Amino acid sequence: MLQTIAIKVTPVQESKINAVDWENLPFGKVFSDHMLVMDYKDGAWQDAEIIPFGPIAMHPAMSAIHYGQSIFEGMKANKTVNGDLLIFRPDMNAKRFIESAERMCMPPIPEDIFVELVRKMVEVESNWIPSKEGYSLYIRPFMFATDEFIGIKPSETYRFVIFTCPVGAYYSEPVNVKIEEFYTRASVGGVGRAKVAGNYGAALAPARIGQKNGYHQLLWTDGKTHEYIEESGTMNIVLVIDGVVISPSEESDTILRGVTKRSVLDLAKHWGYPVEERKVSVKEIVEANKNGTLTEAFGAGTAATIAHIVKIGYRDGDLILPPVEGRTFSNRVYDYLNDLKAGKIEDTFGWTLKV
Ligand code: COI
Repeated sequence: MLQTIAIKVTPVQESKINAVDWENLPFGKVFSDHMLVMDYKDGAWQDAEIIPFGPIAMHPAMSAIHYGQSIFEGMKANKTVNGDLLIFRPDMNAKRFIESAERMCMPPIPEDIFVELVRKMVEVESNWIPSKEGYSLYIRPFMFATDEFIGIKPSETYRFVIFTCPVGAYYSEPVNVKIEEFYTRASVGGVGRAKVAGNYGAALAPARIGQKNGYHQLLWTDGKTHEYIEESGTMNIVLVIDGVVISPSEESDTILRGVTKRSVLDLAKHWGYPVEERKVSVKEIVEANKNGTLTEAFGAGTAATIAHIVKIGYRDGDLILPPVEGRTFSNRVYDYLNDLKAGKIEDTFGWTLKV
């Protein structure tokens, strides 16, 4: 049976919007006026409510904080030059949220309901969408287990929340990444493909070692041999070697299926670039850097957008990549995605949802 969800809106008495310094928007620290809350109980999702943004009360035995049933998504809304409001590929995030929920034994939210909840939140927070180029309204849907119970079993109750943040760039400069050969982000049969809170928590300590040595992020390798690159935690990885656009294959269940990465590869194919999704060895990257065929490397992610990689740390040395200005493919993708979100070009792929 198709479920329908009603969305009740209780607006704030007074908006915080006039206190925002729109010229200095740190990523993820400014929150809009409202949040959407929807609970799961008695085997069904209940009606949703959009209420003033604020703390969520929790029981000390709430199972998410003990046993980790907690998943999330990230997407962006933009205002076009004509004043239209667009959300970038929310259907893809809805599908991934279902996959993450199933992997974590949590109740999925049907795709059409997820998209409608996101759309409604953006409509309510439409004043918070920045108009400045390179800025967006970041949308953070998440779900966590709320049973008040000490014991290992899937929770019977859950809460789904969406809040939004006006944001600028996640990385304010091109990034340095370090190839990680000891710690592991994900192993085959694990939860690497799911957008699970614990994946990010587990990466913090290894990433901090890299950060102390001047790397913004790690470039994770496969958990078994550490010979093949996988992703970078905050973003998927795309390389251009000898004119071919290459990205680690998603066949193994250790890599998050990135929405931005998929869009990048779709664009590459559309523009006639050869595209390969396959295992990408560290050895191949080192050799391509040595012989000058590694011309571009970048991270692709909702928060990171297109993050040029300028340095790849490998063992005791660094691979220095060509200057960002000459990177024809990644700069073209960056401009295309920005123009699409700003409504400057036609959405021929049907990627945006008008609010
Ligand atoms: C996103 O790109 O939306 C993510 O969830 C990554 C996170 C590091 C901000």
